[in-house]
Amino acid sequence: APTLPAPAKPVLSWDELEQTVARCSHCRLCETRTQTVFGRGNPQARWLIIGEAPGEQEDKQGKPFVGRAGQLLDNMLAAIGLDSNHDVYIANVLKCRPPGNRNPSADEIVACQDYLRQQIAHIRPTLILALGRFAAQTLLDSNDSIARLRGRVHRYQDVPMIVSFHPAYLLRNLPDKAKSWQDLVFARRTFRQLTGQ
Ligand code: URA
Repeated sequence: APTLPAPAKPVLSWDELEQTVARCSHCRLCETRTQTVFGRGNPQARWLIIGEAPGEQEDKQGKPFVGRAGQLLDNMLAAIGLDSNHDVYIANVLKCRPPGNRNPSADEIVACQDYLRQQIAHIRPTLILALGRFAAQTLLDSNDSIARLRGRVHRYQDVPMIVSFHPAYLLRNLPDKAKSWQDLVFARRTFRQLTGQ
């Protein structure tokens, strides 16, 4: 997986960054997207949730995780006391939908990575929750599976980061929901240790 380089100091303001993403034509996905998907939630939140890429609903609505996987994600967050409008910011590795929801390609991830890097530099979250192997592998510069990466606290630069399964994967693999629940409880406990909250 390609590496996500060190978080830059924000070069653009948050609004400029969002507008730049909206006009982006760095890769082929700009030809097939309906619109870009920058993020949703609270940019001042202490939690940053990072997924893979917009799906069909996200491409239509312009917001991440608004389809079935998103409903599951919101429920999972609510179960550990997090309101997805206030307590978290949610973004993806890719800002444009890959056609037919195919996997992101390495060159697409490279073309898009500075946007996520700048989002992280703006938000400066207390804890990153990376969902699925594209988010985890991109941020950690690793080829390890989620099964190997979950269950410990990693760091993206100096930001503590926990890895778990992607909600869309959980919809197809119900038995792993129990492990995902363990990961969320672990993330909640880690956050509490980091902040006292
Ligand atoms: N899956 C993702 O990784 N991101 C979304 O925004 C929706 C589904």
